[in-house]
Amino acid sequence: MNRKVIVFQVVFVFLSFFSLNAAKQLIHIECSDISLILRQEDNLKISIVYFGNKFEGTDALLTKSYQRRPDNEEEFSPALYPAYGGRYYMEPVLKVSLPNGVETCDFIIDSIVQPHAGSTGISRTVLILKDKKYPLKVDVVLDAYTAENVITQKIKVRNYFAAPIVLERFYASYMPVFADQYFLTQFNGTWANEMQCNEILLTQGTRVIESKKGVRTTQSENPSFMLSLDTEAQPDRGEIILGSLAWSGNYKINFELDEFNSLNILAGINPYASSYKLESMKSFTTPQMIWTYSNTGYGRASRNLHDWARNYVLRNGNQVGKVVLNSWEGAYFSFDEKTIKNMIDNAAEMGVETFVLDDGWFGNDYPRNSDRQGLGDWQVNKKKLPKGIDDLAAYAVSKGLKFGIWIEPEMVNPQSNLAKEKPEWIVKSPGREITTLRNQWVLDLTNPDVQDFVSGVFKNTVSLSSDISYIKWDANRYIESFGSSYLPEDKQSHFWIEYVHGLYSVYERIVKAFPDIEIQLCASGGGRLEYGALPFHNEFWASDNTDPFTRIFIQYATNIIYPPKATASHVSISPNHQTGNSSSIKFRFDVAMMGRLGLELQPEDLTEKELGFLKTSIKKYKELRHITHLGDWFPLKSPYASDKYTATQFVTKDKSEALFFSYSLDYHGRTWMPNFVLQGLDPNKTYKVTEINVLDKYYFWGTTKTFTGAYLMKVGVNLNLLLRGESCVLHLQEQPTPVF
Ligand code: DGJ
Repeated sequence: MNRKVIVFQVVFVFLSFFSLNAAKQLIHIECSDISLILRQEDNLKISIVYFGNKFEGTDALLTKSYQRRPDNEEEFSPALYPAYGGRYYMEPVLKVSLPNGVETCDFIIDSIVQPHAGSTGISRTVLILKDKKYPLKVDVVLDAYTAENVITQKIKVRNYFAAPIVLERFYASYMPVFADQYFLTQFNGTWANEMQCNEILLTQGTRVIESKKGVRTTQSENPSFMLSLDTEAQPDRGEIILGSLAWSGNYKINFELDEFNSLNILAGINPYASSYKLESMKSFTTPQMIWTYSNTGYGRASRNLHDWARNYVLRNGNQVGKVVLNSWEGAYFSFDEKTIKNMIDNAAEMGVETFVLDDGWFGNDYPRNSDRQGLGDWQVNKKKLPKGIDDLAAYAVSKGLKFGIWIEPEMVNPQSNLAKEKPEWIVKSPGREITTLRNQWVLDLTNPDVQDFVSGVFKNTVSLSSDISYIKWDANRYIESFGSSYLPEDKQSHFWIEYVHGLYSVYERIVKAFPDIEIQLCASGGGRLEYGALPFHNEFWASDNTDPFTRIFIQYATNIIYPPKATASHVSISPNHQTGNSSSIKFRFDVAMMGRLGLELQPEDLTEKELGFLKTSIKKYKELRHITHLGDWFPLKSPYASDKYTATQFVTKDKSEALFFSYSLDYHGRTWMPNFVLQGLDPNKTYKVTEINVLDKYYFWGTTKTFTGAYLMKVGVNLNLLLRGESCVLHLQEQPTPVF
């Protein structure tokens, strides 16, 4: 995100201010291949007239509108910012109660600030709208990420009344869409089954994607969607809009399909129980809504988001991630110094690069030997680890590994010194009982003292050893029975929003103070996966489900929105602890290799054969991970389309190398073998194709073969995958063109 700030400073030198006397004019928000076109109307209102692929001859949009409606005298163009009042009948983007009792708004353009054409990187356009009669202004801030083809929008509401106003609705973005049919994919799920693609045909009425949980908001639904126009979503054809909201609290995305078959999308903070008193001369800024578009299927749109996330969101987005062994599934709460040192020895032997000690290392009066107690008491457990964390971290470093450690600093067990000493820090409705969830409560991050405590936990933990270079930050419950002892009575309804502001201020402090410490985003697995939290992290734990048969579905859907390089994917032991399914070490490894590969097991539980395979395959993976982490993602065959096979491919930006992954998910008769047509290669290049991660047998040709890119993208690869749990990984390398 820092990079963004720098670019704006440069871009704003070349700003131009539009004259507002001008009659109709077009305002172009442009990336290299897509554009959003707005129109200033004669009456100084702003309409949205186009969103899609760039094209020549846009001048016609000066007079032509999207749609004519039978009940409207004039041509209809949807407003950029349809606030409550006027001709609108749908959920408003803004609803505010003014001090004089007026409930409506009527915005016209006040000024436009836009960079000159030709700026590279990010171009920011700010449309400042003002109410026609009352002292209220709104900035619509649109950022176009040129190379990545991503457009973001946020809103700043400014109160110039001498008294407070109350915001009842405050969405970040409105997008009207026109097609014959709309296929919406939501990413629903639950614990250990997050991010499942769920595609429906929208019918008239409102479909809502939302969370009211406050924390761990993305466990059952992600604030992202895929909208396919006219046909079901395909990876490589058709019109697709991807949207994702960058907000770590309650969110709401409305899909309102009206009687004219127009789809109105609204996205932002969930107004649920959150009316917000905005004091005089103060402003309120919404989170960013992220948009991208493709007319060649969702693969392209996903690659736009991945590039954007690597370039502007993730910490170290353009570096490959190291191989982690995380102790959770291998040891849970039962370990001592010897257990951990053995794990480190074996991890080093296998080529692992970072060892992470998960939950269970702290608490003395209330030792954290289960999830029932100790959370909040962040002192090293002297019985389990008498020599402290430094001894373990130094040991890991002496074996050539980095050392990481788990924290869950926003939460507390009732059975802890912290809960007893600071009852006023706990989120609680006064005079009411609060239920525990995973035996724990949430700390009130609206309170600056709690913010200090939480950032202190991070700082103190990191200070346990100068050899700590990785933190796994977990959050294992959502908020119920909300109430804050810190917020004043008339601002209790600010709680849901101020909690998130408190969290962001802690995150900001931490990443500034510890730029070199890697941080993993985790909330009972993928419970906090969204673009508001990601800028403070290097990677995320997509799910506690490490079973490759079900992980394939989670990872595929996750990677439609979020980049594979940040998707921590760990090989665990078979049978799987969550599902009981058995699978080969190769199948487990091949699935984990599509993300940021790691291990989640006790190495002593592996057979000799499994250990040998891991050692060889990790070595190979390190040579090839630049392809999956920094290359382009091509979803070839969705597991959701056929639960028999799935295939994914990664290609380096220069098309010189690729990795192809295919998996058999079911028994499907032995009379035919799947064929996969590859994508994204250079048709004129010749590629050497080598099967890697081979265990007992080859699934391709057995030996290396060469093919042209054109052949691979027209004819494809025919694989000997027959049984459930078989998989094949191919490495493609460009061959030098022969010179005669
Ligand atoms: C939930 C996480 O998702 C797991 O990986 C593990 O860290 C546990 N919490 C520890 O309590």
